[in-house]
Amino acid sequence: MIAFFLWLTRLCGVLLALGCLLPATALAAPDHYIRNYLKVSEPISLALDHQGNTRLFSATDLEIGKQLFERNCLNCHVAGGTLSNPSVSLSLADLQGAKPPRDTINALVAYMRQPMEYDGSEENLWCRQVPESWLAQAEVENLAGFVLRAAQEAPGWGVKRFTNEPAL
Ligand code: HEC
Repeated sequence: MIAFFLWLTRLCGVLLALGCLLPATALAAPDHYIRNYLKVSEPISLALDHQGNTRLFSATDLEIGKQLFERNCLNCHVAGGTLSNPSVSLSLADLQGAKPPRDTINALVAYMRQPMEYDGSEENLWCRQVPESWLAQAEVENLAGFVLRAAQEAPGWGVKRFTNEPAL
């Protein structure tokens, strides 16, 4: 009988320990959107520039980027579109068509540090500027990595026409 109680206490201990571990495991699970729609589970390489330099991004890097995007960019860039100016969306084609092209990590970071007109002629005040004092280089690169990968892979990203558009 005593042995049984001892066994029971041990079992409770093990279950408790498992209970403590579970939330940590749940957090470590890869983000569903990153894995299924951006198709990233192993680190992927994204272009830093057009000279052939690249950087590896893990699923966690892109998840951090996604969270930053959701918190700070999504209001205007829902589904990778641009609500107030749908012709300048975050689609790969639009990023490539800008002057200079914004289809690399460095170009996206440069844009976020100082948003410019689509033809590169002057500063634009419509988009949200991301100063160093707010996001350090590593974080802003993760944000750029998410935007670039989504532009390459995400279904429906860079929408041009919003249904139920309010009359302007
Ligand atoms: C207040 C609305 C608003 C917010 C918030 C915003 N943007 Fe923008 N963004 C715009 C508008 C409007 C444009 C198009 C500007 C133009 O006319 O060239 C734009 C353009 C861009 C472009 C260039 C797209 C292209 O095809 O060249 C990128 C990249 C971009 N935004 C990224 C971001 C990121 C990343 C964030 C979050 C940190 C963000 N934006 C937050 C409004 C916003």
